[in-house]
Amino acid sequence: MSKTPKRYLITAALPYANGPVHIGHLAGCYLPADIYVRYLKATGKDVVFICGSDEHGVPITIKAKKEGVTPQQVVDKYDGIMKNAFKDFGIDFTYYGRTSSKTHHETAQAFFKTLYDNRVFKEEITQQYFDTEANQFLADRYITGICPRCGNPNAYGDQCEKCGTSLSPTDLINPKSALSGAVPVLKETKNWFLPMGDIQQSDAFQAYIKRFDGWKSNIKGQCQSWLNDGLQSRAMTRDLDWGVPVPIDGADGKVLYVWFDAPIGYISATKEYFKGSNEWEKYWMDEDTALIHFIGKDNIVFHAIIFPMMLMTHGNYILPTNVPANEFLNLEGDKISTSRNWAVWLHEYLIDFPNRQDELRYVLTSIAPETKDSEFTWKDFQTRVNSELVSIFGNFVNRVLVLCDKYYGGLVPQVNTPINDEKLVASRKLCFESITNSLQAMVEDLDAVKLRDAQAEFINAARAGNKYLADTEPWKLVKTDEEVVKAILFDALQICAKLSIAAEPFLPNTAAKLKAMLNAHNLQWNSLFNETLINSGHQLNKAEILYKQVEDTEIQPQLDRLHRIKTENETGTKQNEPNQASENRETANHHPVKPDITYDDFDKIDLRVGKVLEAERVPKADKLLKLTVDLGFEKRTILSGIAEYYQPEELVGKLVTVVANLAPRKIRGIESQGMLLMAGNDFGKLYSVSAEKDIEPGSVVK
Ligand code: MF3
Ligand code: ZN
Repeated sequence: MSKTPKRYLITAALPYANGPVHIGHLAGCYLPADIYVRYLKATGKDVVFICGSDEHGVPITIKAKKEGVTPQQVVDKYDGIMKNAFKDFGIDFTYYGRTSSKTHHETAQAFFKTLYDNRVFKEEITQQYFDTEANQFLADRYITGICPRCGNPNAYGDQCEKCGTSLSPTDLINPKSALSGAVPVLKETKNWFLPMGDIQQSDAFQAYIKRFDGWKSNIKGQCQSWLNDGLQSRAMTRDLDWGVPVPIDGADGKVLYVWFDAPIGYISATKEYFKGSNEWEKYWMDEDTALIHFIGKDNIVFHAIIFPMMLMTHGNYILPTNVPANEFLNLEGDKISTSRNWAVWLHEYLIDFPNRQDELRYVLTSIAPETKDSEFTWKDFQTRVNSELVSIFGNFVNRVLVLCDKYYGGLVPQVNTPINDEKLVASRKLCFESITNSLQAMVEDLDAVKLRDAQAEFINAARAGNKYLADTEPWKLVKTDEEVVKAILFDALQICAKLSIAAEPFLPNTAAKLKAMLNAHNLQWNSLFNETLINSGHQLNKAEILYKQVEDTEIQPQLDRLHRIKTENETGTKQNEPNQASENRETANHHPVKPDITYDDFDKIDLRVGKVLEAERVPKADKLLKLTVDLGFEKRTILSGIAEYYQPEELVGKLVTVVANLAPRKIRGIESQGMLLMAGNDFGKLYSVSAEKDIEPGSVVK
């Protein structure tokens, strides 16, 4: 590829449509991609920024099973939620597609067919694990077992999340079906394999991997170790019923491997964006395009090795120019985890911190896990917002605009006498040199996709402006030398204008707000290094506060929430309940009504009708009964503290109300997969629906 690309195709990993978006997603992939794209666009580059929902794969079907709905219902729900969350945080995709679309199915099938016709695949009959109870092959996450490398007892059939090793189901020790818990049997099946070992030897691939030299060391290192180990063939088809059907004869009941179809989603989304014209081909087939994939580290092999192999064996396509992968973001000392609810959810953040998207963008970029894992803490969030955004950037802008309003009625002053005072001249020189240096460094960092450093340079520029005011103290000087104050504030306004331009990639809402305050919407990136950006006599608008302090009282509820979740996760109980109950009994004989929740809060709880099939006491636990409850679509083991109120046998056959989506938790070594609703002041009576005998188990309760 030539040195300066004619156009850019930027992709951000298609997120699985099986849950809402949290800060780890944002920091790892979407925010860096967005900053880079905003920068490219600001500099006038031709950019298409592609993302979309990854709607196939086992994570979706498992979620659907858990919720008792169809996979289509799962992806329809989360596609909308994810799309909105990205929009709320200003992630400015050119197009957000979805892999359930018709264009995608056709594109992925045609791609597979071409590889098939090019005789790329090896057709092989192999022994795969099969669940005889569920009557299904167990690929990827449908199977769990002990990791052969690190001993993690909950490794998946495709990967151990503890040590990061990529696995295949037959590597697992003591494999178990994730569907039924049954021990699987081996059964023969035919699949189509990508012979990665052979492709690795090809000239085209060897030429391609030279590009790794210019990539970040974490990616280079991972790829190098894969290549050194020698690549294994990998099946590109699966015996599943959710996915893109394999488009050849003799492949009934088989779909494309999700990691085959998902990256093709980048192509189909580009096609959809260009609505039937051939324009999309320029972005995918012209060597003058830079193709850049932003991803998290768990996606490296798929983007740096497997997808390029697909593209090169297909022919016509360009290969990735860069794959800037980030490491992981942790939260308050622990791994972010959806199932343990250990996360800061974007939609929840916005409820507690309305209109403060840029603050989160800022903090997540300051701590971006660009080279190693990093950590988000609420205390650090507060400190960075208060001591950087509020005290440096916000304070500087506010001082300048308020002073200009006060002294000149919001008109940019006319400078009549240049600054002569030696000390002031020195301050001014230092300030402008330092701003120019910072902004130059920022641009270099942006070009190198070092966004954390780039943003730090941006703040350095604001810091230099703030220092200029602190050194020259125009609010004091105004009493003795009004002319010099005009010159200082004229300078300061030029700095505000520069900051409004430079802020755009990182803090798009702030940039717009600042430009509005300066009444200068047309400030462009190419004037960043100009001396004068707004002229004397220009009318400014009223100053508004850019950022509010984050108060302790705003942080504490967040910490309390996480603390509560941690306690619940560790003890397997809602710890505060007994205390609260006993406290309440002393003060009143009714429970006070809890604070209001929104309909959306309520809608998160999946209540189902269940039928008790079996009930037995739990040894050495006086209060607990172990129940087997039929939810219609599956049977659950649920532990319930009702042994003091019910004999096991009187429960069998009863219809009960079950919280079906409560994260499973271990109690006395047994996993409880839900909760029964109880009534009564001491929570001792089942909330039973036995009056309505004709309700089917699995029915939704609303
Ligand atoms: N859905 C995958 C994940 O969340 C990422 C898919 S990226 C794509 O890990 F290239 F396949 F689209
Ligand atoms: Zn492991």
